[in-house]
Amino acid sequence: MKAVVYREPFSVEVSDVEDPSIQDPNDVVIRVTSTCICGSDLHMYEGRTAAESGIVFGHENMGVVEEVGPGVASVKKGDRVSMPFNVACGFCKNCLNNKTGFCLTVNPGFAGGAYGYVSMGPYTGGQAEYLRVPFADFNCLQLPKGDEFENDFAMLADIFPTGYHAAVLAGVSPGETVAVYGGGPVGLMAAYSSLLRGASKVWVVDRVASRLQLAEDMGAIPVDFSKADAAEQIKEQTGGEGSDKGIDAVGYQATVAEGEEQPASVLNSLIETVRPTGRLGVVGLYLPADPGAPDENSAEGKLLFNVGKYFEKGLAMGSGQADVKSYNRYLRDLIVAGRAKPSFVVSKELPLAEAPDAYQRFDKREDGYSKVVLKPGLAA
Ligand SMILES: NC(=O)c1ccc[n+]([C@@H]2O[C@H](COP(=O)([O-])OP(=O)(O)OC[C@H]3O[C@@H](n4cnc5c(N)ncnc54)[C@H](O)[C@@H]3O)[C@@H](O)[C@H]2O)c1
Ligand SMILES: [Zn+2]
Ligand SMILES: [Zn+2]
Repeated sequence: MKAVVYREPFSVEVSDVEDPSIQDPNDVVIRVTSTCICGSDLHMYEGRTAAESGIVFGHENMGVVEEVGPGVASVKKGDRVSMPFNVACGFCKNCLNNKTGFCLTVNPGFAGGAYGYVSMGPYTGGQAEYLRVPFADFNCLQLPKGDEFENDFAMLADIFPTGYHAAVLAGVSPGETVAVYGGGPVGLMAAYSSLLRGASKVWVVDRVASRLQLAEDMGAIPVDFSKADAAEQIKEQTGGEGSDKGIDAVGYQATVAEGEEQPASVLNSLIETVRPTGRLGVVGLYLPADPGAPDENSAEGKLLFNVGKYFEKGLAMGSGQADVKSYNRYLRDLIVAGRAKPSFVVSKELPLAEAPDAYQRFDKREDGYSKVVLKPGLAA
């Protein structure tokens, strides 16, 4: 089958790889109908992780079940399903506590597994024609048959639940104000989820005009950090107080207004932006090793985080991979009920063959490349 394979920094190609097969009685094999490119893929694409040549990318997958292992009870051939980007077992201590982003079974020696991601276990990515899904009863979310809501459901594998998780980590409650750093797909979903949870005002901070426009169209207040300090802009709009809650949807590749990377800059901006006793939800990625870091300490994930100010303000913070499985069925039902339409972030639907070009453009945050959905069934 064809798949998107990482070759070297700034290079992926569509090549022939082995077809997936049932390796364990609990597996199913899916024919992929939609699979998205994620900002998380870009960290690997840019050579900013330990990802090695040959890895098949793709952790945001949905499709139709083709083959079913003999131990699978609830999933049938022909079912339309979405898979959380986290691979999880369903029976370990963390899975039993709904912490499926930190499964202790699927990636021995590490808490958490994912498809097509460095350090996240042996699970081949789904930017391909077919995908093997382990522990299928637990990892497949059933979707209504047909092709209705395809691009909305495609957001259920990662960014919609991740955005929602950010709002949960920040403890966003009705009436509160929320500052979201990052207007990429994850930041837009975090802002959207904050509004779904009843926030009275949500700011989205970025510098890419088309992303700020999407934020405004969706009901958030755009803040361009390249024009003036974002924390100051938000404080000005809150009588000097700051927002109740804050979300980091950028991570360690954050840049400052002048353009260079400063890995802790969003964390430190949030400490300035959020009012004393507020709470931060950090879903932007931080890693314990960064081969392209701007300095020795950040190469080991040790950042200049302003802990003094953080403590002084009595702030709290939640972080980590989103536990997609905790939210995806509820978010699916909001989509079906017409109460949520996360596909507003989707800007391109492309065949697999166009992935190399799409990676390049999404990496440059070109206008019109907010969220790219690859459709392996589309002819090139
Ligand atoms: N925790 C999880 O489970 C999880 C899941 C998915 C993605 N992520 C992470 O979330 C982050 C965002 O993902 P994405 O797909 O939206 O990526 P993206 O790269 O498309 O978006 C990041 C945005 O941040 C903006 N940005 C850079 N510096 C900034 C600053 N100082 N202030 C405000 N904005 C700034 C960029 O212009 C860009 O638009 C990535 O780090 C990704 O790895 C985490
Ligand atoms: Zn993703
Ligand atoms: Zn588990």
